[in-house]
Amino acid sequence: MTFDNSVAIVVPARGEDPTSDLPATGREWWRNAVIYQIYPRSFADDSGDGIGDLRGITTRLPSLVELGVDAIWLSPFFVSPQRDAGYDVADYCDVDPLFGTLADFDALEDAAHALGLKIIVDLVPNHTSSDHAWFRAALDAAEGSVERARYMFRDGTGESGELPPNNWDSVFGGPAWTRTTNADGTPGQWYLHLFDSTQPDLDWENPWVREKFRDILRFWLDRGVDGFRVDVAHGMIKEAGLPDYTAPADSGSMGGGVGLEPEIGTHGDTPTPPYWAQDGVHEIYRDWRQVLDEYEGNRVMVAEAWVEPLTKLARWVRPDEMHQAFNFSYLETTWAGPAIRRVIDGSLDAFTGVGAPSTWVLSNHDVVRHATRLALTADNPQGHGIGPKSPGQPIPELGLRRARAASALMLALPGSAYLYQGEELGLPEVIDLPDHAREDPTWFRTNGERYGRDGCRVPIPWEADAAAYGFSASGKSWLPQPADWAPVSRDAQVGVPGSTLELYRLALALRHEHDLGFGAVDWLPGYGETVVAFRNGAVTVIANTSQTAVELPVGEVLLSSEELQGSALAPDQTVWMRL
Ligand code: GLC
Repeated sequence: MTFDNSVAIVVPARGEDPTSDLPATGREWWRNAVIYQIYPRSFADDSGDGIGDLRGITTRLPSLVELGVDAIWLSPFFVSPQRDAGYDVADYCDVDPLFGTLADFDALEDAAHALGLKIIVDLVPNHTSSDHAWFRAALDAAEGSVERARYMFRDGTGESGELPPNNWDSVFGGPAWTRTTNADGTPGQWYLHLFDSTQPDLDWENPWVREKFRDILRFWLDRGVDGFRVDVAHGMIKEAGLPDYTAPADSGSMGGGVGLEPEIGTHGDTPTPPYWAQDGVHEIYRDWRQVLDEYEGNRVMVAEAWVEPLTKLARWVRPDEMHQAFNFSYLETTWAGPAIRRVIDGSLDAFTGVGAPSTWVLSNHDVVRHATRLALTADNPQGHGIGPKSPGQPIPELGLRRARAASALMLALPGSAYLYQGEELGLPEVIDLPDHAREDPTWFRTNGERYGRDGCRVPIPWEADAAAYGFSASGKSWLPQPADWAPVSRDAQVGVPGSTLELYRLALALRHEHDLGFGAVDWLPGYGETVVAFRNGAVTVIANTSQTAVELPVGEVLLSSEELQGSALAPDQTVWMRL
């Protein structure tokens, strides 16, 4: 038996792999890509105002090449009053001065491409900001006008229209309708906003709206982006007549439990809410796909669609629609062998059935970071956001250990994987943010009942000894960074055997070397219910979700999420082996 715990790492130079960007159908770049989500305001701040920006990102791109990712996805950096951290867009075709200029974007894109990184931008089509010129014109225009027809304006109910048009709730809490005030000061119509009141929903039945978004797609495609992450891609069409809807009490937490509302998708057999996953959305994506296909270079769309079951989600990625959809069923799976096997099988079946790669994701800017989430207790299973007063406070060491094991498992799976900035450092959710620092609309709309998503959005640490851990030379940070982040800073982990950063680098290098993204899962029998064991090509992966150690087979250890003690795989540990 040979166990080599020294985990030497040899990262193949980029561009050496002839399979990395082959245009041939079936081996397009996005089918096996590891895509790194950059949340611009929290990545790197060049201007010194405490909010990250595009120039900051450009400066730090080489670190992502060293990590070994294939592409970056940028959360919104467009003109916005920032009421929902940029997911409230006031101009889709310009950069918010907070983040820089279009020239800064072009420079970032050029730098990314020169480094061999693809670049995906975030498209937010379900709603605009209430500051968008279209919505301002709609408010100024008369009832029934063409300007109002671009949004979802309706008369109220009740004797004098004093009640909202229906009973829908906003994802962020409170009603999904806000009443307008007419020019003469009298109360007017209501408008729909599935999210914050500053995010009015567009009416996607309106051809004018469709035409405008084709133009927006072309604007960014012409600039050379490699694709779009499509925000709320299950929400753009609403059921005719906007019927009342009450979610079943046990409809699950399709929003990752952070306030992206309980009934955001459909769990199993629960009915489809009249505002999510309506059939009409598919026509829109087919139309967009034709636009993308006019361009060379395998441009892609990935759907943010909180839809279950997976067989239904797979309809978003049929051959003439989007290319990928985030696998939130996987993200929401607890750290338990049977559940993990079930969701992997279900994902591969569902996506392969329509010719799409499966995707895998454990963290993003909307959910509790998985280094914390995986240690939450039954009192708070996925974390409705988590703060100092939440039940089920996690044990940090357990969370990190499970997160490392879960990431090692995920990165061995075939398909495309999404990483969220900072997870490669093992960052936890910041639980004890002071109330006055919180900015998530969820926090305000629920009067502090739900903490929301600020805890996963804290600016990331680059250098242990620098001001703001190297996030900003000015030392400013729009959300306060924890005082104990020096050891998890990137420079404290580079080259340190066993660090989370080196674990990710090794996993990505091996994934590339063994072509795991284009592989297949071949389950290995004999390990028991609580152990996830499979082969993907030459690599055997064994993850122990149980409370007891498991004896490993004879073979060479390629990677281990924790240092191995002899031939035993401890609880909450994953290895990759060559048998
Ligand atoms: C998506 C985004 C989230 C945003 C919401 C409204 O779910 O990921 O951050 O708040 O859409 O745009």
